[in-house]
Amino acid sequence: MEIKKVGVIGCGLMGHGIVQIAAQGGFDVVAFEADAGALEKGLGRIDRSLSKLSSRNVEKGKMTEDQAKDWVGTTRGRIEGSTDKAALADCDLVIEAIVENLDIKKSLFAELGGIVKDSAIFASNTSSFPIKEMADASGRPSQFVGLHFFNPVQLMRLVEVVRTDDTDPAAFEAAKNFGTACGKQAVACKDTPGFVVNRLLVPYMVQAIQMLDRGDATKEDIDAAMQFGCGYPMGPLTLTDYVGLDTTLSILEGWVDRYPNEPAFSIPESLRTKVAEGKLGRKTGEGYYAWEGDKKQ
Ligand code: 3HC
Repeated sequence: MEIKKVGVIGCGLMGHGIVQIAAQGGFDVVAFEADAGALEKGLGRIDRSLSKLSSRNVEKGKMTEDQAKDWVGTTRGRIEGSTDKAALADCDLVIEAIVENLDIKKSLFAELGGIVKDSAIFASNTSSFPIKEMADASGRPSQFVGLHFFNPVQLMRLVEVVRTDDTDPAAFEAAKNFGTACGKQAVACKDTPGFVVNRLLVPYMVQAIQMLDRGDATKEDIDAAMQFGCGYPMGPLTLTDYVGLDTTLSILEGWVDRYPNEPAFSIPESLRTKVAEGKLGRKTGEGYYAWEGDKKQ
């Protein structure tokens, strides 16, 4: 199973990053978005990120100005934007990075099963939904994996490669090799809630929110504690804002529904309230902190 051409469905927060690192890894990429405005926005983010990365490489002496320009041009040249799913038909791998809603994902994969060539591998970038349910909906469960990237995709060096009991070992290997070719450390995981990272990370974020809700410490002190005490690049409340409060809540709601007796899975009151108020974190300018663009106030 050789992967040369990759389709990415969704060009939002995660999708645009996946498109970019796949192109940086040398793959031809079809970036699909349902509407032209969203596609343009996603491609604009890729342009800004490539320009940032290339200037940083020039500053560090890793590339000359000319090499940087070539690198940006070649990488960008591998990306074709489309609002027509038919453009995905001859992709060898199709990665879904749309909204975290299992029913929508399942119907998307059922539709893709009839559009994309039979030999292609399907992957979901879901944070927490069961891969098996989407694999069954796609009609090709043996060629289905989870490829879970981390935000910001361009900088975080991990991809979790998730297999179900039905995943063909050859499809799994091909997906893992794709992750490595994109410059990521690929770790294997079974189809379990939250895989490796979110199973550890989300309960940790919940504990931090509950600590804040109880008034045990201020948000600044909770964050400083983990930054300076454990060397984490950001504290848990900043990270919750960074990931998105809606995303964090939707992960937890899915788990609480499926595993009501698991004590590590619980939903803090302030998380529900803030999401209901539209305070979703960095992307809306307010979550646990106020944000001005990328910067915390
Ligand atoms: N593309 C290119 N460059 C980027 C970028 C992007 N998308 N985003 C940031 N950068 C650049 C910045 O411009 C900056 O460049 P400069 O030094 O030339 O100004 C550089 O990267 C460093 O960024 P910052 O100065 O903003 O700050 P940091 O040094 O703190 O680095 C960070 C940012 C890498 C995000 C770091 O804070 C970090 O590692 N945070 C933790 C993130 C994390 O844990 N992510 C996982 C979340 S969980 C998840 O995604 C799973 C999901 O399922 C919930």
